Amino acid sequence: MTDKFRIGNIELENRFILAPLAGYTDVAFRKLCMECGAGLTVTEMISVKGLCYKNKQTLEMLRTDEAEKVTCVQLFGSDPEDFRQAMSLGVLDKFDIIDVNMGCPVAKVVKNGEGSALLKKPDIAAKIVSALTEYGKPITVKMRMGYEKDENIAVPFALAMQDAGASMVTVHARTTAQGYGGKADHEAVRKVKEALDIPVALSGDIVDKATFEERRQCADAFMIGRGALVDPSIFSMLKGGEYGKKYPLIKKHLRYLSQYFCEHYAVVTIRKFFAYYLKGERGTKEFKNLVYSAETLDEVNDLVDKYLFNI
Ligand SMILES: Cc1cc2nc3c(=O)[nH]c(=O)nc-3n(C[C@H](O)[C@H](O)[C@H](O)COP(=O)(O)O)c2cc1C
Repeated sequence: MTDKFRIGNIELENRFILAPLAGYTDVAFRKLCMECGAGLTVTEMISVKGLCYKNKQTLEMLRTDEAEKVTCVQLFGSDPEDFRQAMSLGVLDKFDIIDVNMGCPVAKVVKNGEGSALLKKPDIAAKIVSALTEYGKPITVKMRMGYEKDENIAVPFALAMQDAGASMVTVHARTTAQGYGGKADHEAVRKVKEALDIPVALSGDIVDKATFEERRQCADAFMIGRGALVDPSIFSMLKGGEYGKKYPLIKKHLRYLSQYFCEHYAVVTIRKFFAYYLKGERGTKEFKNLVYSAETLDEVNDLVDKYLFNI
């Protein structure tokens, strides 16, 4: 599965995509995942309203690294006019692909009619996609199966996005009501792939070769989220290589965080990552306790050298 893949007029090196993960897929982690072999990475979800207000924090989330040969920004909002305004600011010009979040289940997002609330408003969702196509870049949509428990509107909703001009649809095969629990229904994604002419990507529960093999016939491309948080070298492994050692990756991650961010952000962020990086690793309790009280990157680096050089 190392063959090239197209989204609209954009060519990717392969079909494995780092999923957007709020709080995680900042420029440092995306750079790491590109170097581990991802065909594409996606920013965290970025508010079009925040962009329109020129919110400093929101604008900082638009940073990219030259390792990202193709760049994709994920936007969220509820009003097609906000999307138009955000596009016309110029700050999104550097992105090759624009993805629209239609899957976020978080209450404060949904109550504003954003994220997965758009699943209940296919007309507005289609207007957002069609407004974005005016800017000449491929537009992709990331959606869920449906909103309510056991609801499955994936085929008609995805068809409506295709008709509105989307170049790819990613289906996270859970409903909003499911959150991130329960099993993702990859067979339902196969039905979307069969119904659409544009490529369909699958998101949900790909964590190793076996879970990928179970799903490989169900979609054209594959998004990896939490599996990449546990080990970014999942991308090289899925392409036919091996899992790498985590220690050098963690050291690189720390370097990239310090390249782009202030020390406080870097330290707080890497702590969150350790909950994933150390999943299944035994004997790391002392390290975890120490790293959660570390306040500088030098301290974190020293702890990693002392405790994790072996993993
Ligand atoms: C911590 C976290 C943050 C997420 N943030 C986003 C986001 O910003 N945009 C989005 O479309 N999906 C987001 N998702 C959903 C993931 O992109 C993905 O669809 C979901 O985790 C299922 O894939 P996985 O099993 O490979 O993790 C997030 C998921 C997690 C766990």
